[in-house]
Parts: sequence; structure tokens; C-alpha cells
Amino acid sequence: MGCYNCHGKHPRHGAPTMVQLADKAAKHRGRSGAAAKEAEELRRGEPFRRIVAHEQLSPATAESLMQWIIDGARPTGNP
Ligand code: HEC
Repeated sequence: MGCYNCHGKHPRHGAPTMVQLADKAAKHRGRSGAAAKEAEELRRGEPFRRIVAHEQLSPATAESLMQWIIDGARPTGNP
């Protein structure tokens, strides 16, 4: 998805790393509807700081990505 272009080990554009995002999102773990709410915020973006990569996500994709981040953003294929 290109998320790691900005959120990888060498973050760009001042983006937080995936690990930092997962730490921050961990507080939502176990809350139903949290992923949907975070996904909506992600796609809407800040009024003065829009991230095209976020806005291009479909609602469903954004929600599953947020759920994945809330669950710790673990690499896939290695459960
Ligand atoms: C072009 C670079 C870029 C790409 C690509 C990108 N992001 Fe981001 N992302 C950012 C920046 C910069 C911020 C920090 C925004 C801010 O501080 O206002 C951010 C913030 C976030 C946040 C935190 C939002 C919040 O409310 O704190 C999440 C979650 C996130 N990105 C997920 C993703 C996912 C998932 C993808 C892949 C679909 C992705 N990003 C792709 C640059 C990017």
C-alpha cells in the first residue's frame, strides 16, 4: 500500500513510524467500532495537513488497516 514509504523505519515527511502508530492505537484495542472511527479520521485528514495516501483509501480498506494497526501492526504471514 506504500504505507511503509512514509511510516517505515526511515520515516518521511515527519510521519510517525508504524511502531509508534501501533503504540498510539493500542489504547483502542478491544473497543468495538474503534477501527471504523479511526479509519474515518484517517481518510478525512487534518484540514491543513492532508495526506493523499490516506484519502485514497476506500472506507473498507482504511478500516481493516486501522484494525491491523490497533492490533499491533504485526507483519503479515507471521501470526
Ligand atoms: C506520503 C506519506 C504517507 C503515506 C504514504 C502514508 N502516511 Fe500515514 N501519515 C503521514 C504523516 C505525515 C502523518 C502524520 C500526520 C500529522 O501529524 O498530521 C501520518 C499519520 C498516520 C496515522 C496517525 C493518524 C492520527 O490520527 O494520528 C495513521 C494511523 C496512518 N498515518 C496510517 C497510514 C496508513 C495505514 C498508510 C497506508 C495506506 C499511510 N498512513 C500512508 C504520512 C503518510
